[in-house]
Amino acid sequence: MTRILMVCLGNICRSPMADGLLRRKVKEEHLDVFVDSAGTANYHVGKRPDQRMCQTAIANRTNIDDLRARQFVVEDFDLFDKIYAMDKENQINILKHARNSTDKEKVELILNELNPGKDQTVPDPYYGTSTDFQEVYTLLDHATDVVIRKIKNGTIR
Ligand code: 4NP
Repeated sequence: MTRILMVCLGNICRSPMADGLLRRKVKEEHLDVFVDSAGTANYHVGKRPDQRMCQTAIANRTNIDDLRARQFVVEDFDLFDKIYAMDKENQINILKHARNSTDKEKVELILNELNPGKDQTVPDPYYGTSTDFQEVYTLLDHATDVVIRKIKNGTIR
């Protein structure tokens, strides 16, 4: 089983969306993949995803209502094969917990799956508009398509 963790700051907007999208696609494709998400901050621990992200998800036939925020912990390096950060700041904060090179190698920016080496950010929509939430959805829809393709061809294991 491949285990993939999506990480943002609050775990209420971007990473739940990435988590929900990948869960849906893994199920549709009958793949043996465990998906979860976490935040580098603890502001929203235990909360459901932001209502605006839930609505955008539903409008795009993806349900993230049941997800609950949790904070990233060092043990996530043991539980997951691949850890995707939504932006550079999240990536740096995840890497602060890394104990060795194996841990470090698991961490990648999610949009580098879409545009390799570009180090692009999934913009934080928290103070944004519904258009910003839709943009997050679209970026993550495309990025998770690549993740699914790589799982299927064995590039991600
Ligand atoms: P997320 O968005 O990292 O995509 O979940 C945010 C959620 C909450 C805050 C910032 C970003 N906040 O400052 O509370």
